Amino acid sequence: MFIVVGVTGGIAAYKSVHLVRRLVRAGHDVHVIPTEDSLHFVGLTTWEAISRNPVTTSVHEDVARVRHVSLGRSAELVVVAPATANVLAKMAAGLADDLLGTTLLATTAPVVVAPAMHTEMWRHPATVANVAVLRERGVTVVGPAEGELTGGDSGPGRMSEPDEIADAALAVPGVHDLAGLRVLVSAGGTREPLDPVRYLGNRSSGRQGVAVALAAADRGADVTVVLAHADTDVADRVRRHPRIRVVDVGTAEELQHAMTSASSSAEVIVMAAAVADYRVAEVSAVKMSKKGDAGLTLDLVQNPDILAGLAAARRDGQMVVGFAAETEPDRELLLERGRGKRARKGVDLLVVNEVGWTRGFDRTDNAVVVLGPDGAVVAERQGTKREVADALWDAVVARR
Ligand code: PMT
Repeated sequence: MFIVVGVTGGIAAYKSVHLVRRLVRAGHDVHVIPTEDSLHFVGLTTWEAISRNPVTTSVHEDVARVRHVSLGRSAELVVVAPATANVLAKMAAGLADDLLGTTLLATTAPVVVAPAMHTEMWRHPATVANVAVLRERGVTVVGPAEGELTGGDSGPGRMSEPDEIADAALAVPGVHDLAGLRVLVSAGGTREPLDPVRYLGNRSSGRQGVAVALAAADRGADVTVVLAHADTDVADRVRRHPRIRVVDVGTAEELQHAMTSASSSAEVIVMAAAVADYRVAEVSAVKMSKKGDAGLTLDLVQNPDILAGLAAARRDGQMVVGFAAETEPDRELLLERGRGKRARKGVDLLVVNEVGWTRGFDRTDNAVVVLGPDGAVVAERQGTKREVADALWDAVVARR
């Protein structure tokens, strides 16, 4: 496997020599990218000798081969060890002022970081927030361990041991385990117009569906996202991804049309969009005006059940995954509702998602239970929406 190891300016850099040696001995093609600061701790010669590949910190070398992005594009896994508070902040902000920064922005491979810093820096709200952003983007954080630090103080902040980092990195779900798989995902919330300025909608931010798409693409899949309304920053994440094609839609009927036409080439279909069950029977061509004190009655008609249609029409070998947004707080009743919905929709896997005023919708975290074809629980995950997405893909991989 083509592995990039980023080394940043902390004393733990010396431990990464063992990490690189271990990855090379395991037969991987390892490319080390040290930061300038880290060279105070371990020099270029050591990295070249251990990795058996040329090493530079500069974006101005090997320009003909566009080195500042080529390493990131080739990488199947990127490990940053040690990761200082500074580099975590730069990664969270997307700064690319050196070769490691440009590589991290150019890669779509899974990224693993092994933080190392003093306890105060690890606990600082800025670092806590940066690590949360990275986790949400799917970065795996290994450690830090607790123990003696360089100044004689102790606490969390020690870089994890190289073998632990190597084991965790090689076990990251999705080191291209979906390579070449054609995936179709719906995300966001549909908007059903009432008139030119109003609509019936829901609180979906698009985060969960987008996380499902990004996780699949990062694991090597070719992804099409049919995107209903989503927050702009969330939508931008899929638009920027080189292996994701985005089809924008507004209403449930548009979503149905886009999903149906893209479904023929998909091997796995995931319906994470929050689809309006109803639309108005007739959309007013002009802005509806207030009618005195009389209330307003909307005449609603049912939208098609897109998921059930896709499941009914699926071809051999095609897998269909649905979500179920439920407000039932009792676990057993929630699963019962999920089992009923799975059977009615006829899907292979159903992701039961407890939602509410402060759950599921428009948040960065989520909690789901995945039901298999016989209604049995095949996975369960609480965490960032990216972690939930990876659990979903693990369940898909296990079933395929
Ligand atoms: O976007 P976020 O803010 O991140 O929030 C994520 C989420 C809560 C929207 C997401 O995790 C989720 O649960 N999505 C499914 C929402 C939903 O519509 O659930 P449902 O139980 O009403 O529908 C069940 C399934 O049928 C879903 O897969 C849905 O996409 C599909 N459906 C629903 C209605 C319809 N007319 N056609 C459909 O295909």
